[in-house]
Amino acid sequence: MVEVMQRHINLVTEVPGPRSRAIVARREAHVAAGLYKATPIAVAHAQGALVTDVDGNTYIDLVGGIGTLAVGHCHPAVVAAVQQQAAQLIHMSALVGSYEAYVALSERMNTAVPISGPCKTLLGNSGAEAVEDAIKIARAYTGKSAIIVFDGAYHGRTLATISLTSRVAFKKKFGPYLPEVYRAPFPYAYRYGMDEAACVEHCWAAMERMQVAVVDPANVAAVVIEPVQGEGGFIPVPAEFLRRLRDFCDTHGAVLIADEVQSGFGRTGTLFAIEQAGVEPDILVSAKSLSAGVPLGATTGRAEIMDAAPLGGIGGTFGGNPLACVAALAVFDILEQERLLERATQIGAHIRERAAVWQHDLPMLGDVRGRGAMLALELVTDRASRTPAPMQMQVILERMLQQGVIGLRAGLYGNCIRLLAPLVITDEQLDEGLNVLEDALYTVARP
Ligand SMILES: Cc1ncc(COP(=O)(O)O)c(C=O)c1O
Repeated sequence: MVEVMQRHINLVTEVPGPRSRAIVARREAHVAAGLYKATPIAVAHAQGALVTDVDGNTYIDLVGGIGTLAVGHCHPAVVAAVQQQAAQLIHMSALVGSYEAYVALSERMNTAVPISGPCKTLLGNSGAEAVEDAIKIARAYTGKSAIIVFDGAYHGRTLATISLTSRVAFKKKFGPYLPEVYRAPFPYAYRYGMDEAACVEHCWAAMERMQVAVVDPANVAAVVIEPVQGEGGFIPVPAEFLRRLRDFCDTHGAVLIADEVQSGFGRTGTLFAIEQAGVEPDILVSAKSLSAGVPLGATTGRAEIMDAAPLGGIGGTFGGNPLACVAALAVFDILEQERLLERATQIGAHIRERAAVWQHDLPMLGDVRGRGAMLALELVTDRASRTPAPMQMQVILERMLQQGVIGLRAGLYGNCIRLLAPLVITDEQLDEGLNVLEDALYTVARP
């Protein structure tokens, strides 16, 4: 355990405290029950990597609004930009008039994405909407209908995006789903029990078979992939697999869509995770940390593709709202000024160093993986069988919360913990949070 000088966690009541319990009881009475909640606390305010609940308990946040707060909660520059914008223009609708923040952000996105040649951007309200826009635009551009997605994928919860999403728990009872969606195996080397190269060959063989047995490659409009699978358990796609997808799309005239909603905006140590593979997508989808918590999604791609949607076929009342645009412009500056990409790499290296010790001591810690500061630990009942251990993971998360650290699970089987701390977390806060995680892991998973 690493010595922590100053404690940031401050628990003044039991968790959840009485005020949290009262608000959660009202939520249960008045809010639709299908809205999942990972913790029983009600939050009052937050700053950087610290969150304070309505009972005055302060927690270290290793979830960051599900990967939305790379620059931290309520970054002063984001707050100032939003406040200033709110006093000038809260809403206009880009469908009615133009405003500079929308245009300036699109310019910035167009040069930031790892796509050579001229790009254009469309702004929406969420990651799911931006993914939907990407597939609509890909269909309009190619004149084809089929979409290839992957096992374990998560692309959102709208009706079209649950059709792309893989986990049954997210989609059951909502069918029928979008037709013409074809699912290929995802190269999840740990679960296949293979090394990365063998896993790529295995999954690629399935992709090739699919082109004979399932879908005509000539009718594929798009291949949609998360360069680091998020909800699926923080599984980076091997560079070789991405290269083959690029070749597939070039050969068959399909659009390669990188869903960087969770992996984008610095989390992995580069602005976008796919940069590390040296592969160019045709469209890249951003949301989450793009705008530090103000709802926004961006679909950015080759100009000729982006221009293929018919006039009036894309956009919505709120898409690219001025408050969200100025927040995102501030995020670009903060990432640069505070060197948060380097920080993501450092955070990742530090967590890996500590996790290597845990993995040595705890046979239940089957895998530690990810890119940069986008890391997950996968818990199994034993290393030989790799049987997922979701119940134990739940106990670990509950114990962490009781000790002042907010964590969140991931993975098809719910047996992973994902680490998505704000990149502005200090070294001391990080170690304090990791000490709590370590204690919970050793308590629950020690042989
Ligand atoms: C990879 C990925 N795509 C899309 C989405 C959907 O984004 P939103 O929740 O903003 O609709 C998410 C959300 O977690 C995601 O991780």
